[in-house]
Amino acid sequence: MFNGNEKESLLKLAQAAQKRSYSPYSAFPVGAVLLTEKGKTYLGTNIENISYGLSMCAERVAIFNYLANGDKSDKIKALMIIGNTEEPIAPCGACRQVIAEFFSGSENIYLVSGKEKIRTVKAKELLPFAFNKLS
Ligand code: THU
Repeated sequence: MFNGNEKESLLKLAQAAQKRSYSPYSAFPVGAVLLTEKGKTYLGTNIENISYGLSMCAERVAIFNYLANGDKSDKIKALMIIGNTEEPIAPCGACRQVIAEFFSGSENIYLVSGKEKIRTVKAKELLPFAFNKLS
């Protein structure tokens, strides 16, 4: 599936995930898909709650889906996030910290707008000067 255009294939999956969003409070559906080195994919979508602070972002759901169901030896290769924004979506600070926790830094992060404009950044670029040591 990923022998051809990786971005095209991921885009379809991210859009499918976006359709599963539960976002009645923000009306802002987000889709995410994590790709592993072996070509497996893990979807995520944002899931909100009447108690707003309990809401969970799409990219964290995709990462947690990989962590709960994936094989740790099958490393993360890329992550795509799509939202109905004018410009490619920018992940929130909490998600950047979670990405910093589980990505090595060189993975591609594809940020996508509602009109399918894609901005590609490396995981390490998302959170400079990250909190990464307890002492
Ligand atoms: N959201 C995401 O899922 N990912 C992002 O990168 C930005 C924000 C969600 C959280 C909330 O459900 C809605 O979008 C509005 O903030």
